[in-house]
Amino acid sequence: MSRKRLVEMARRNLAHVEAGTVDQAPGVYRVPPRTTTTRRASGSSSSASGKRVPLVLGFSAELRGPGTYRALQVADVPVLLTRGGDGQVRAFLNVCSHRGAIVVKEGTGSAKRFTCPYHAWSYDERGALVGVYKPDQFGEVDKSCLGLTPLPVAERAGLIFATLTPGATLDVDAFLCGYDEMLAHHRFDQCHVAAGRRSPGRTGRSPTTATSTSTTWPILHRDSFGTGMPSEALYDAWGPHQRVSFPNPFLRELATKPEDEWPVSQLIGGVWTIFPHISIADFDAGGKEDLHGVAALPRQDRGRVRHRAELPDTSEPDEGAQDRGRGS
Ligand code: FES
Repeated sequence: MSRKRLVEMARRNLAHVEAGTVDQAPGVYRVPPRTTTTRRASGSSSSASGKRVPLVLGFSAELRGPGTYRALQVADVPVLLTRGGDGQVRAFLNVCSHRGAIVVKEGTGSAKRFTCPYHAWSYDERGALVGVYKPDQFGEVDKSCLGLTPLPVAERAGLIFATLTPGATLDVDAFLCGYDEMLAHHRFDQCHVAAGRRSPGRTGRSPTTATSTSTTWPILHRDSFGTGMPSEALYDAWGPHQRVSFPNPFLRELATKPEDEWPVSQLIGGVWTIFPHISIADFDAGGKEDLHGVAALPRQDRGRVRHRAELPDTSEPDEGAQDRGRGS
C-alpha cells in the first residue's frame, strides 16, 4: 500500500514535470503578520508544547543491541534511552532519585548498570534502583519506589519516539497517521549512524515550517544550495507530517518501465518532516543511499542536531544518482 502511494506521488510529480506546473491551492490563504511576530516575540514554539507531543529522539540503530544506551538533552530535559536484554527500548528522565543529579553523561555506549556520580546510587537498564552506597547511612530505603522516572516511548520505522512528560499517554500510531509506513522505505532499521553533529545557536524555524516555504530556497538559501534550487514544490501530508518533493525530470526515465520495477530509492527523494522537529533529506550519493536526519527542536533548544545514517553499501556507483535523488 505504501509503495502504491509512492508510485502515485511519482506519477503526479511526472505529470507536473511535463506540464511545467505544481499543485495549486484553491485560493490564497492569508495569515495575519501578527501571527508570526507574536510567535517570534513570545517564542510560542515553547518547551511546553515540545514536551506534550511525541518527539523522535534517535535512530533505533543507535541502540543496536541489548545493553546499549543513549543519554541526551532534549528541550532542557535530560533523557536516558536504554535497550534491555528483552530488546525493548525504554526512556527515563536521566535524573537521580536521590538528589536529582544527572546520572549518565551525554553520549552512547553499553552498560548494565548506571551509577550516579554523586553518591553512587545505581540503576539497571529498566531504571530500577539496584544499589545504594552504604545503605546503613540512609536509613530505610524502599528501592522499589525510587527507580528512574520512566517516559512513554515507542519505536516505529527504525526511529525512537518518546514524550517528555512522565505518565503521559503516547499513542504513536494515532500521531503518525500511517506515516511510519512511508518512513519505513528509508530503511532506518538497516542503517548505521555514520556521523552526528550539533550546531550551536538557536534554531530559527522548525523543519516543518522551513520546508513549507520552498519559495525562499533560491533566495534566502542561495549561499547553501545555489540559485538553481527550485522554488516549486509538491506537498503530501499525513496528519501533521509532510513530504516535500520537487518536480523531478529524472522521473521520466521511469515512465518507460513497468511500475513494479521502479526502484524505491528513486521514489523517496525530497524532504520528509516528522512534526515538530525532524526533517529527513534523502540523497542518493553515488550508488550508496545516504540519509540525513536533521533534528532541531524549535527555539528553546540550543542548537541543531544532525545525524547521518548510511545504508550498507550494496550497489555499484551510479553516475548522476545524486541529481536524481535530489529532485523527486
Ligand atoms: S544524587 Fe545521585 S546518588 Fe545522590
